[in-house]
Amino acid sequence: MTDIPGYDTIRWDNDQVVLIDQRRLPEEEIYLSCTDYREVVDAIRTLAIRGAPAIGVAAAMAAALGALRFPHTDIDGFRRHFRDVCQVIGTARPTAVNLTWALERMMSLVAANVHPDSSALKTRLVAEAKAILQEDIAINRQIGVLGQELIHDGDTVLTHCNAGGLATGGYGTAVGVIRAAWEAGKKIHVLVDETRPILQGARLTAWEMMKLGIPHTLITDNAAAALMANGKVNVIVVGADRIAANGDAANKIGTYGVAVVAQYHRIPFYVAAPRSTFDFTLSDGSQIPIEERDPEEVTHIRGRRIAPEGCRALNLAFDVTPHGLISGIITEKSVCRPPLPQSVSALRQA
Ligand code: MRU
Repeated sequence: MTDIPGYDTIRWDNDQVVLIDQRRLPEEEIYLSCTDYREVVDAIRTLAIRGAPAIGVAAAMAAALGALRFPHTDIDGFRRHFRDVCQVIGTARPTAVNLTWALERMMSLVAANVHPDSSALKTRLVAEAKAILQEDIAINRQIGVLGQELIHDGDTVLTHCNAGGLATGGYGTAVGVIRAAWEAGKKIHVLVDETRPILQGARLTAWEMMKLGIPHTLITDNAAAALMANGKVNVIVVGADRIAANGDAANKIGTYGVAVVAQYHRIPFYVAAPRSTFDFTLSDGSQIPIEERDPEEVTHIRGRRIAPEGCRALNLAFDVTPHGLISGIITEKSVCRPPLPQSVSALRQA
């Protein structure tokens, strides 16, 4: 559940993966039902489902779907089939590490299996995918509990992209923090960056704010710096797609610029993310793979060309905010405070 009454980001339903089609929001609230894991992969690639934790849940459910489609019971054949399925799912999107994290969790069950028949393992894989969804919702709520302490009554909070219920199993990371502050009775106002080129802020975060009844104002990405300069922003909370061992954090393109301006104006800049978004194998953010998407997402808006015919465009989907610009990383375990290389290392041991 997104925890917004009447909406699920993603659910497992009668051996189908059902997800709200985020490409169609906010105009239409339509669900896609996937019976084949390749349909889920396509949904991830085309942003029908997006946001790092939601991609992780979708990957796990895609793997479970793939497992169910194996028509035999022999375990060696199943292992080969499942490895191939996970390989395909693993290529869906490169930056959000939650995808790899979820697949590794599913593959570890297969590796640990001792039964000669794959039937019980298939059931176990479906249960694991469902558990990943439920755990993600609980984790987000806990991020909210810890993070809302950083938001004060009367604050104006700026957020970039969509790190809400739609980007997770439910409740949200950055939006979860905002939401928990609102639910705690704090009178806050949210500035929602529209987030070019796909407009996750305008289409999705604003949609969530409307559903939740949280006061908000949609702004162009270009307006964020001026509003910070004018003293209109008290605190910033964003999500992350992958966080390196030193605390450098990849998030939606434009996040880095927000963080630079925030530091210039001494505005606290927080990242909210579950532990599954940390990639402790990478020493710093320069090693995070940055997705480059179709230039048409820049030259066109909703299928309509806005740039001249033949105009070249570069479409970097993410950027990396160096840890020195981050005031804290809010996780379900604790808030990592600067110096982040040390506090993230402590989180790893926890
Ligand atoms: O390209 P997207 O829409 O998948 O990018 C999403 C983001 O950048 C989110 O901020 C991030 O995944 C955190 S989601 C809780």
